[in-house]
Amino acid sequence: MMELGTQRIADNGHLTIGGCDTVDLAARFGTPLYVLDEAHLRSNCRAYRVALAAGAPRSQPMYAGKALLTTAVARIVVSEGFGVDVASGGELVTALRAGVAPEQLLLHGNYKSREEMRLALECGIGRVVVDSLPELPEWQAVAEEMGARVPVLLRVNPNVKPKTHTKIQVGQIDSKFGLSIQSGDALRAARDALALDRLDLLGIHNHIGSQVLGWQAFGEAARQLADFLAAVRDDTGAVLDQVNLGGGLGIRYLPDHEPPSIEEFVTNVVGALRERLAALRLPEPLVLMEPGRSIVGDAGTTLYRVGVVKEIPGVRTYVSVDGGLYDNPRPALYGAEYNVFVANRAAAPADTVVTVAGKHCETDTLFSDVKLASPRAGDLLAVQSTGAYNYAMASNYNRLPRPAMVLANGGRAEVIVRRETYDDLLRCDLLPLRLSGG
Ligand SMILES: Cc1ncc(COP(=O)(O)O)c(C=O)c1O
Repeated sequence: MMELGTQRIADNGHLTIGGCDTVDLAARFGTPLYVLDEAHLRSNCRAYRVALAAGAPRSQPMYAGKALLTTAVARIVVSEGFGVDVASGGELVTALRAGVAPEQLLLHGNYKSREEMRLALECGIGRVVVDSLPELPEWQAVAEEMGARVPVLLRVNPNVKPKTHTKIQVGQIDSKFGLSIQSGDALRAARDALALDRLDLLGIHNHIGSQVLGWQAFGEAARQLADFLAAVRDDTGAVLDQVNLGGGLGIRYLPDHEPPSIEEFVTNVVGALRERLAALRLPEPLVLMEPGRSIVGDAGTTLYRVGVVKEIPGVRTYVSVDGGLYDNPRPALYGAEYNVFVANRAAAPADTVVTVAGKHCETDTLFSDVKLASPRAGDLLAVQSTGAYNYAMASNYNRLPRPAMVLANGGRAEVIVRRETYDDLLRCDLLPLRLSGG
């Protein structure tokens, strides 16, 4: 196993998280089960907060809620000094329900419905990130209708392609996201935003991709943001005050993954921005960052119960577990890999090559050709680094009720998302009169 956060192997060979024996957690709360390591989540938050505060005179960390947003998670990140970035009405409502102050929220999206826009202005949101030229007059219209003002960051596209899976590269010019600096759309948007009387243009934003195991591409993007701020100043006379450097730092999914530390990442990227700003004689801005995966990713672990072990001699051994595509679609979506091991014999040598299969139709394969310690029916498997984009992307495929999530800390575990029931699955189904037998 990878020693992440508070994860340890107890004397009885069981994996513990936050001082809780995972075998007990599975017995108490059932499987599949998402386990969140609160101390580790908080320490990731602190690493960002401290590095940002050291790296820039003014800074504000934001948490990218798309990675994992529940009311408990929102409370935790806010208590660590973060704001929350939301990308939909549902995320916005979740953050508000958790008690996040609206001015600490930021709304994203390349398609924001009128309803989402109204919701944002109604609550008094701190920032909205405008993604395209047509979005500007939309905000103006909604704000006029509501008698509101719109605090705007422009999402600019620097045409930087970080090294990561193509499905999570979004900083290149051929992207649905952002206003291209290269094409002139970004500068046009700055002029338009300044001309619209309901909009307050606060600054700019960019996000180039996710699960990136280096900081260089972010540094390059940051320098381009500085150049763009200078272009805006020279063209319009406006000196914008806020720069949001997005998220994207990768985490350890496998033992040989070596992401930079949060401190190294923040120091270098913020340093690249400030150095270029100084060279361009621009003042120190408020620097924002909005990490998601590197806050919650390696703080989460999924526990599965092994059911059938099927050996096809000379071909393959399939180990079927009680979850799969519905609780973690990432392996199917883009071949994401994870570190998996037998949680009830965590110190035993991983000597058997198997394929871990999910329980869904299709080919639902979680992990191909991984080595496990002679897995048998009834064993508990632990999959590390599942805190981000797992529960957040979970579905009810095959009408499976989504798993519970527990928060583990100091030997205590509390449910922060209860397991869905069959009634939950049925609560939106309606029968038209002619089918109701009435
Ligand atoms: C606009 C924006 N900000 C932040 C993030 C968070 O990225 P990550 O989870 O890689 O830190 C994303 C994720 O895709 C994003 O689209």
